Amino acid sequence: MSPQDERSDVAEETMVSQPEKKPISTIVVIIAMQTEALPLVNRFQLTEDVDSTFPKGVPWVRYHGFYKDLNINIIWPGKDATLGVDSVGTISAALVTYASIQALQPDLIINTGTAGGFKAKGACIGDVFLASEVAFHDRRIPIPVFDQYGVGLRRTFPTPNLLKELKLKVGKLSTGDSLDVSQQDEAAIIANDATVKDMEGAAIAYVADLLSVPAIFIKAVTDIVDGDKPTAEEFLQNLAVVAAALDQSVPQVVDFISGKCLSDL
Ligand code: ADE
Repeated sequence: MSPQDERSDVAEETMVSQPEKKPISTIVVIIAMQTEALPLVNRFQLTEDVDSTFPKGVPWVRYHGFYKDLNINIIWPGKDATLGVDSVGTISAALVTYASIQALQPDLIINTGTAGGFKAKGACIGDVFLASEVAFHDRRIPIPVFDQYGVGLRRTFPTPNLLKELKLKVGKLSTGDSLDVSQQDEAAIIANDATVKDMEGAAIAYVADLLSVPAIFIKAVTDIVDGDKPTAEEFLQNLAVVAAALDQSVPQVVDFISGKCLSDL
C-alpha cells in the first residue's frame, strides 16, 4: 500500500466514523394514522410508491419525493387488511421502521403523530412536543434487569440547535399499546416522568437504536389524559385540528434539517 493509499484510507475512515459530518440526505418520517400523514404528503408534494419497496401484500405505504436537498419518505403502516382501520401500535411501527431502514438506509428517522398529554406536566391541547426520552409503560417484567428491559428507556437523538430555533416544548414520551390508561399504566407513566403518551414511539426508538439510526419524535397533543373528558371522544374530536398543527411544525423541522449535518441539529 502506498502512502497515498494510506492517506486516502485514513480520510475514508474519518468519513465513516463521523457520518454526522455529511449533510443529511435521506429522511424517513413514520406516521401511524392516515389523517396525520396526508397533510404532510400534500405539503411536501410526495407521491405514493407504486412499485412498493416493501414485501408484496403488506398494507404499508411509502410516499416519497424531494424537498430542497432532502429525499423525504413518509411511511404509513396502512390500514389493517381485515378491519380497515389504521394499523396503529408498536407491532406495525416496529415492522415498518425495520423495513424502511433496510430499504432506504435513512440518515435520520422522524416519528410524528398525535399523543395524549398530561396537564400536570404542562401539556395543553395542540401543543407540539419534541421528546427528550422515550420508554414503554405497559411491559411489566418484575424480575431484576428484565424490569429495565421492559421499560426500554432510550434517549432520543439530541437536537439542541433545532430546539433553540423552533418553538417546541420538550418532554418525555411514554409508549403503550392502549389508547386509554389502566391504573398500572398510569403508575408506570408517572415513573417514566412522561409528559406525553403515544402508541409507537418507544418501539420505533428500539428498532432505530438496534440499527444505529438517529431518531427524533415530534408529538402533538389531542387529548388530556389526566383531564375530565373521555380520551377516545376527545382524541377523535381534536384529531384533524391537531394534525393541522403538525402540518406547521414538521415542515419547520424539515426546513431546519435541510442542508445540515446530524451534528448541527
Ligand atoms: N394518541 C393520541 N392520544 C393518545 C393517547 N391518549 N394515548 C396514546 N396515543 C395517543
